[in-house]
Amino acid sequence: MQLQLEGQAVAVFGAAKGIGRAIAEAFSAEGCRVRCFDRDPSPRPLHSGVSMTTGDVTSLAAVKAFAEDSGPVNHVVYSVGAGSGKFGFPFWNLDPADWPRVLEVNLIGAVNVAHAFAPRLASRGRGSLLFIVSVAGQTGSQTDPPYSAAKAGLINFMQCAAKDLAPHGVRANALSPGMVRTDLNQSVWAASQKGLPEAERQEYAAWAEAKIRKVSPLGRWQQPEEIASMAVFLASDRAGNITGQTINIDGGQVMHA
Ligand SMILES: NC(=O)c1ccc[n+]([C@@H]2O[C@H](COP(=O)([O-])OP(=O)(O)OC[C@H]3O[C@@H](n4cnc5c(N)ncnc54)[C@H](O)[C@@H]3O)[C@@H](O)[C@H]2O)c1
Repeated sequence: MQLQLEGQAVAVFGAAKGIGRAIAEAFSAEGCRVRCFDRDPSPRPLHSGVSMTTGDVTSLAAVKAFAEDSGPVNHVVYSVGAGSGKFGFPFWNLDPADWPRVLEVNLIGAVNVAHAFAPRLASRGRGSLLFIVSVAGQTGSQTDPPYSAAKAGLINFMQCAAKDLAPHGVRANALSPGMVRTDLNQSVWAASQKGLPEAERQEYAAWAEAKIRKVSPLGRWQQPEEIASMAVFLASDRAGNITGQTINIDGGQVMHA
């Protein structure tokens, strides 16, 4: 399928590794100019043609400076995410003090990015915003309650942004992975094992396989590249009538009528 994205400019937040990195590289492979922003430098060199700025999305000033420095941008992707490092079940295993940082990184960071870029996209009269959310934000997942709540909030904010931006020819959508083998997924396992008696602890691979078999009809991991393929498609004119949607790439974990 010809997506005709050559020469377009894309900003990807949270692209040092994991899903964001795969998204940045997929846009680069389509011939886009890709500028990335992440708290950490990339552990491995990125595609040539992909540049990286280090900074924290919770700083509006840093995000605005990046937007100003980026010049005209066609598409913006927010793939930053982090959990609390603790495990729910029940939610009072966490302290209320565990919530603010998780909300800041997963939700307020995305709001900062939207504020920095939406007026620019709107004034150009075309383009797209994409937020990477999670099945946790649609199902009241008990694993990490502030993470689930932040993702639910982000889905709602995306819908609001989609309505505000539609008259300006700009689309906003969310992509929702289920389980992708990344550092973030591994941190969920690590949190789940804390405090368990020795006999009940599981290795990451065994824990993950059991969870996938339980929750996913297709019964397998999602790959970062599978999320990236949909991100690239959604940015293209082929998806020109899609806005305000949360698209699950989760092996069927979440199904809506
Ligand atoms: N891995 C999964 O199973 C899974 C499932 C559902 C949703 N997601 C979502 O997918 C997105 C990508 O997650 P991933 O699995 O690739 O995780 P990851 O940990 O591999 O990558 C997250 C990236 O965000 C960056 N980041 C974190 N805090 C930041 C901050 N304050 N400022 C700037 N950058 C920051 C990290 O440095 C990292 O490069 C996240 O939004 C996550 O919630 C992941």
